[in-house]
Amino acid sequence: MEIITDPGADRHIQLEHQKLAEALGGWKRTHHCCELGLDDLRKEVCLMGWVQFRRDHGGLIFVDLRDREGLTQIVFSPEIAPAAHEKAHVLRVEYVLAVKGYVRARPEGMENPQLRTGAIEVVAAAWKLLNTSHTPAFMPDDRLEPAENLRLEYRYLDLRRPRMLRNLRVRHKMAQSVRRYLDEQGFIEVDTPLLTRSTPEGARDFLVPSRVNRGEFYALPQSPQLFKQLLMVGGLEKYFQLARCFRDEDLRADRQPEFSQIDIEMSFVEEEDILNLAEGLISRLFKEALGRSPEPPFPRLTHAEAMRDYGLDKPDTRFGLLLHDVTSLLRGSSFRLFSSAKLIKAFKVSGGERLSRKEIDDYTEFARIYGAQGLAWIKIRPAEWQSPVAKFLNETERAALTGKLSLEDGDIVFFQAGEPDTVNAVLGNLRLRLGRDFGLMDDTLLNFLWVTNFPMFEYSAEEKRHVACHHPFTQPRPDHAAFLPDRPEEVEARAYDLVLNGVEIGGGSIRNHNAETQRLMFRALGFTPAQAEERFGFLLRALEQGAPPHGGIAFGFDRLAMLITGSGSIRDVIAFPKTQKGVCLLTRAPAEVEPGQLRELGVRIEGASPARASEAGKNEA
Ligand code: AMO
Ligand code: AMP
Repeated sequence: MEIITDPGADRHIQLEHQKLAEALGGWKRTHHCCELGLDDLRKEVCLMGWVQFRRDHGGLIFVDLRDREGLTQIVFSPEIAPAAHEKAHVLRVEYVLAVKGYVRARPEGMENPQLRTGAIEVVAAAWKLLNTSHTPAFMPDDRLEPAENLRLEYRYLDLRRPRMLRNLRVRHKMAQSVRRYLDEQGFIEVDTPLLTRSTPEGARDFLVPSRVNRGEFYALPQSPQLFKQLLMVGGLEKYFQLARCFRDEDLRADRQPEFSQIDIEMSFVEEEDILNLAEGLISRLFKEALGRSPEPPFPRLTHAEAMRDYGLDKPDTRFGLLLHDVTSLLRGSSFRLFSSAKLIKAFKVSGGERLSRKEIDDYTEFARIYGAQGLAWIKIRPAEWQSPVAKFLNETERAALTGKLSLEDGDIVFFQAGEPDTVNAVLGNLRLRLGRDFGLMDDTLLNFLWVTNFPMFEYSAEEKRHVACHHPFTQPRPDHAAFLPDRPEEVEARAYDLVLNGVEIGGGSIRNHNAETQRLMFRALGFTPAQAEERFGFLLRALEQGAPPHGGIAFGFDRLAMLITGSGSIRDVIAFPKTQKGVCLLTRAPAEVEPGQLRELGVRIEGASPARASEAGKNEA
């Protein structure tokens, strides 16, 4: 008998560290807790795991022992093995246990068909307590969803829950699948530096001060973009990496400050080659990780078509509610808002006529988030059009609208008039909200969609200059390169995004391998030649030394895992994620550092850190 317990203690057995370290004492686990069944009767086994549950029944003590793979019922019987039974009452939830015993069939009527091992139980002959546990902050099962703050603070408990364990397993399978596929296709996996220079991907950099080079900073990579291009100049031809990326941006359910990409770059290719490769990879990934293989080729929309029909550059194509441009129909309206607007778009929802005034007010409030001043609507009823704006519409306009939107009784139509960007953002997001509220999103669908022909630049009101839609290394369409100096807004990029059910899961482009075009790009972005040289001289020089034509793509690995596991947030597929405020609740990072460390780095903090200023805010997930 090898029961290592302190005979006097009950609730929390005090074990000496020494004993714990040696507690296995040569015991070897023979099976996982999911494995045993009626074929194993009378087998002698050794199981190790956590106490999920203990109950005492007329002298018998039952423990559900849990490990990574499942549960097995252990019986401690005073008749069969009195010594093993004697102290089993000390066992508590989440205690760590090793049990030796034999397998027997459960008595008739006691089987549990819900459980894979529900036909048998293991009669304990001897056991060792490997560790005790304080009462856990929450039970690591999937019956109740604990508050996310608590889950993040005790992430190791959270990871014991079957759902979380499954998520990490799926993520692992995905990584293996990606590596196998790309290896078969001749790709070489290369690590690139994490301490590097800024790589502009449109977010802020995380900076790391250098001690040795006082006053200078590394930036953590927003992506390995420049390194993968340099690898092409280096003759690698086909590169990939499961790359960590760092972006200091506002976080959302599908964004983390630190995330992973399946990062890919290829030489001697054009768009079609990369899209084909990507479709092959994604199909294999979904087949191996989800058991469903989407059929390439995936549908494509140009950026202009996506904006026209969906108002967003990442359309969710699982349902209709398409937007229509009704500017020309309503241009002559007596409603000033319509007659003066640059763009008027509308979409209808069948059955929306039943929406209450309160519901419509809620949608109007929602529209304001995206910059709407208001939200015009019309309910189509048999005898009349009910609407605050119907009185402005004459018979011709009504007939034109009816024709264009195929209006029928019972519909509601929503309108937005104004600047094109606002109109599209408002209606594009309202469409998603109504699609969800009206149950039109079929969650069983996997709607992949390529969005192509992105504009090269967008105007940043904040920076008062053009910024790259994708990134500055993207090649303009060859027939558009001539517009770069004077009409940048007309230049289309050789860039593409892959969208799944309205989530941008990947994006890439053909790059400038010609240094002259790259210089033109920098100029269009507002860099003087000297600034371009200072920041990107190393790239320009590389392009001048036999850079092959090249291009690539990167997929958001966490987003893919989120979609494949059906999780509501990428935090659920990342072992140790950060909160919306960028805080790790488990380690309490970020944290203040010793004044001596700052002195060494030559860094001085001015004012209080905002995180410290609201310690309460730190706890929000
Ligand atoms: P891009 O910036 O489009 O392209 O990023 C590629 C994909 O990464 C995912 N992603 C994120 N996932 C989680 N959290 C974030 N904060 C986050 N930001 C982006 C998205 C996105 O589609 N270097 C280029 C790729 C290339 O041109 O080859 C790049 O990084 O799914
Ligand atoms: P008003 O004449 O301001 O009361 O507006 C009439 C209707 O138009 C109201 O239902 C407003 O919500 C709506 N509305 C206001 N601004 C816009 C806009 N930019 N686009 C569409 N509808 C709007």
